[in-house]
Amino acid sequence: MCGIIGYIGSRDALPVLLTGLENLDYRGYDSAGVALDNGTVDVYKREGKLENLLGIVPESSDAFCGIGHTRWSTHGPPSDANAHPHTDCTGRIAVVHNGIIENHEALKSELSGHTFTSETDTEVIPHLLEEQLDAGKQPRDAVAAVVEQLEGSYAFVVTMAGSDAVFVAREDSPLVIGRGEDGFYLASDVTAFLEYTREVSFLEDGDVVVLRSRDVAIYRNGAVIDPAFTAIEWEAEAAEKGGYEHYMRKEIHEQPHALRQTISGRLDADSGDVELDIDVPEEYARSLEEVQFVACGTSYYAAEYAARLVEELADIRATVTIASEYEFSGGRDPWRTLTVAVTQSGETADTLSAIRTAGEAGARTLAVTNTLGSTVTREVDDSVFIRAGPEIGVAATKTFASQVATLAMVAVALGRQRGTLSGRRAETLLENLRSVPGAIQQVLDDEELVAATACEYADSDAYFFIGRSLGYPVALEGALKLKEISYDHAEGFASGELKHGPLALVTESTPVLAVLTEGSRPEKTLNNVKEVQARDAPVIGASSMDDEAFVDELFAVPSAGLFEPLVANVYWQLFAYHVADLQGRSIDKPRNLAKSVTVE
Ligand code: F6R
Repeated sequence: MCGIIGYIGSRDALPVLLTGLENLDYRGYDSAGVALDNGTVDVYKREGKLENLLGIVPESSDAFCGIGHTRWSTHGPPSDANAHPHTDCTGRIAVVHNGIIENHEALKSELSGHTFTSETDTEVIPHLLEEQLDAGKQPRDAVAAVVEQLEGSYAFVVTMAGSDAVFVAREDSPLVIGRGEDGFYLASDVTAFLEYTREVSFLEDGDVVVLRSRDVAIYRNGAVIDPAFTAIEWEAEAAEKGGYEHYMRKEIHEQPHALRQTISGRLDADSGDVELDIDVPEEYARSLEEVQFVACGTSYYAAEYAARLVEELADIRATVTIASEYEFSGGRDPWRTLTVAVTQSGETADTLSAIRTAGEAGARTLAVTNTLGSTVTREVDDSVFIRAGPEIGVAATKTFASQVATLAMVAVALGRQRGTLSGRRAETLLENLRSVPGAIQQVLDDEELVAATACEYADSDAYFFIGRSLGYPVALEGALKLKEISYDHAEGFASGELKHGPLALVTESTPVLAVLTEGSRPEKTLNNVKEVQARDAPVIGASSMDDEAFVDELFAVPSAGLFEPLVANVYWQLFAYHVADLQGRSIDKPRNLAKSVTVE
């Protein structure tokens, strides 16, 4: 959940670390800190956002080596003392860490002579290292010995005074090395150092790494290996706001581009075939008994959309389980179950745990993710990338659209392989998919109308989103978006469920936002619209229907076949954004939330 940055080379390390922390603070913003190593280790850290740290660091430093951290609390509340880096008793070792050391209490009880100054699990690491150095170990061997003692998930980075190196270890938490002309960079996410280099190498679980200013050594499976570096195509600007006030609004507007990238080179609309670069043999696809989706939050709603498509197009039982609730139950032959982890970050602990459970039970596993080199891609038989580009706003927007588009392609591929989807129907679907970027652009061009509507309803008591079939996950996603960035009460319902209870909440102060498009059984939802209007609730309809005489506010959804609910979702994103903006909310970093949830 936290962000890590490290540097060693010929530059002043301080500005590199601060830039990295600025780029990474979407991973957590409870506190920030740096440790600079110029023969002695100087630590600066502060509770709260990066600005607080900027107030106490020097303007420049004479350190060419350092580490930094931005935190989302797991052990110990946000405070100066709990901020990273953490040090040993002598102050010569500083450590930043992401993840959880599960046995930290047992380890701490064995470190009785040591003085602890924080409530974190992390702090055991520098003290364990101190023990190892005092016992005569060389720094790298000390790190390797401490790794042996730790249980849990972690990525940690160490600087030790006078060692002229940065030491790194990874287990179940992402880390990536960057190679620049002026040294080596290290971070929990490439976004941290894209200004400096795009040559990267992703670390693997179990790696212990020594970075020096001119070389890097990775200790993997008992051997020292030279890392293979690959070029990242994302530009640093892509990770900046590009003129928008918030990343979220920028990312909403990036959806046509993101979707074109998602489908680029993958559709053959003439034949109705898709090419996803995964090796699922036709024989296997035909023998499949069940497709299981596991995911959390917005990704879960994308999976709900996908499951309906898989059932319809590929004629296979498709289930969707919130990842933290997942337990494997396949048929007699588990291999005939395909379990699909849908995760933008590829690092969500609940989703990783679920996909591991499925893999261990013998299911075939597939990851649908935005993040190359992420942990989930190492856990599964195959991965498909949604290619949405970096998403910085904590609230997922463009990645939802790209997830649904990617999963729709998976559904079409399965349908074609299994012979349940005719070439002609597939052609139509793929044509519809191709039309989505343009349809979304039309919605974006309607933003003024949405902003005005948001202004009219921003003082409401609560907001209810309704939809059926493919419109149901979009109703759930619309409500999630609104509640997480505006902090207002918003709920999504299957349209038909309103009358079974929630209707009691409906008043003239609770707008109802209805999905009325192809793929969402709009004629039936219109009955539910009438029910809420009879209770004086205003209705905002995202609709592609001709007859919306009794919708109070109409958002017109361009034609896009079964993807119309996905297009309607963009109206809900804009509505949520403008309601939250009117209230002056912290849109890109809503309270209590973080982008990557790497704890269970
Ligand atoms: C909501 C949101 C979260 C994520 C969830 C899963 O806007 O972003 O609900 O969708 O935490 O994250 P990933 O997709 O990274 O597994």
